[in-house]
Amino acid sequence: MSRKDLRSHPREDIGQELVWAEINLAHLKHNLRQLRRIVDRKTGILAIVKADAYGHGMVRVAKTLEKNGVRFFGVANIHEAMELRKVCPGASILVLGCPHPKQAPLYIKNNIIPTISCREDALPFEKLLAANLARSGFPVHVKIDTGMGRLGIWHKQAPQLIRELADCKHLSIQGVYTHFANADHREKKRTLKQIQYFQYLLKVLKQLKVKPRYVHAANSIGLVRFKKTHLNLVRPGLLLYGINPTGGPLPLRLKPVMILKTRVALIKEVETGRSISYGSTYKTKGRTKIAVLPIGYSHGYRVGFSNKTQVVIQGRRYPVVGRVTMDQTLVDLGPKTSVRRWDEVFLIGGGISANELAGHISSIPYEIVCSIHSRIPRF
Ligand SMILES: Cc1ncc(COP(=O)(O)O)c(C=O)c1O
Repeated sequence: MSRKDLRSHPREDIGQELVWAEINLAHLKHNLRQLRRIVDRKTGILAIVKADAYGHGMVRVAKTLEKNGVRFFGVANIHEAMELRKVCPGASILVLGCPHPKQAPLYIKNNIIPTISCREDALPFEKLLAANLARSGFPVHVKIDTGMGRLGIWHKQAPQLIRELADCKHLSIQGVYTHFANADHREKKRTLKQIQYFQYLLKVLKQLKVKPRYVHAANSIGLVRFKKTHLNLVRPGLLLYGINPTGGPLPLRLKPVMILKTRVALIKEVETGRSISYGSTYKTKGRTKIAVLPIGYSHGYRVGFSNKTQVVIQGRRYPVVGRVTMDQTLVDLGPKTSVRRWDEVFLIGGGISANELAGHISSIPYEIVCSIHSRIPRF
């Protein structure tokens, strides 16, 4: 059996794993319920499950969400979309990234919705559908740049593109969407400007008699902070995984879906003044016990955590000392400790959040969970 096959396992099988993630699908359902409490009943949920559901395992996450009423998913590329299509045959799947012209047949064959940012994105679809005498109405979503400066057509040029797309007989503009650049900022001005641009465009579309079934804008923090961004579809990612995008107060109670654990692989007694790990960046201040944890940067436990983060063993916090290496990390247990070899260690969970880890390396919680390597089994 390949490692990939081992990735999603029942909890009882943790056995003697040395590094693993526990994915709590009950917490995922809880977070979905919490989200529904703040979103209008008429507004749909497009769950973002790209990057292997932010490291949580796309297949199990999507199946759970689908069982709980989610019918629409967002992924990063056609490969993720095709993997998802195998397990959610009836779901709508939107690819948020650009379609390569040669991927058009895969989109059409698997009924995957592309994001269109310009005319050239649409033409391969139109041509292929026309050549195959396909039915009309292949759904596309048009991305509008209202200030993110990434994908999408600049909002002022969008009416022209949309008119051209409306002339493509085989395509149907099922959705029009934008994405916020600053929804997490204390200062709301920039997001309000983006909303204003988008709403103005929607008015223009009405005048052009273009009526997309879905109009959407809100990511997790957008939907929490700006009610008027809900429109008729919201696109949460991080909130579903129970992680607070900003670390600030939220109007919902989230439960983290992922716990990352390892075990104490070795305990060594060392004297005062002993240096620890590459570069000797830590010297013991007295006699102490050092625990070796079999996780390192190759698993996604970052070098930047060296001498900064803590882990939790038997409910107590201990500091990570010395440089985190490729496969091993060291922890100072102090001279008197009840910690034993093979004890479980919380790296995320047990009171340590992805936000806390991100704070140590000037990063964001998204990067922490997405970095947890796919070779770590998920239970
Ligand atoms: C276009 C788009 N929509 C929605 C999301 C979900 O964002 P969040 O995880 O902050 O909810 C993302 C994530 O990067 C995105 O790129």
